[in-house]
Amino acid sequence: MIHLTPDAYRDLGHCRIAGVPPPLESLRMTGWGVNTLAWVPAGDLGTIEVGLAVHVEAGRFPIAVCRLADGLYAISDTCTHMQASLSEGSMFGDQIEYPRHGGRFNVRTGAATRMPAVRPVATFPVRVKDGQVLVQIPD
Ligand code: FES
Repeated sequence: MIHLTPDAYRDLGHCRIAGVPPPLESLRMTGWGVNTLAWVPAGDLGTIEVGLAVHVEAGRFPIAVCRLADGLYAISDTCTHMQASLSEGSMFGDQIEYPRHGGRFNVRTGAATRMPAVRPVATFPVRVKDGQVLVQIPD
């Protein structure tokens, strides 16, 4: 298990992994229009514990910022099943589950991993600067 300091997060630039669609492609997959991108504040790193997902309003996007042991991940906070707030659910490893219906998503990739959720949620790049979480969203 790797624990990253805020400085290490910053050095990572953002917390994406190989094989994850880039943000523009991810957003297009979910039908959102995209023009330009901007980094916007999404809370203090110290308020997001490992294993938790926190709801933030970033521009026009409700986003769930999820903290795993290896970094931060940001996904749309609107479930693609019936538009519930995923951040009200629970984290199971790198999965987030909406409790009423049981739909799950991988917070690293946005992929729907359990019925009734079948369509992915958008993912967003995340980085930390001076203890502040920043999420990159369409401008
Ligand atoms: S609203 Fe997400 S699983 Fe139903």
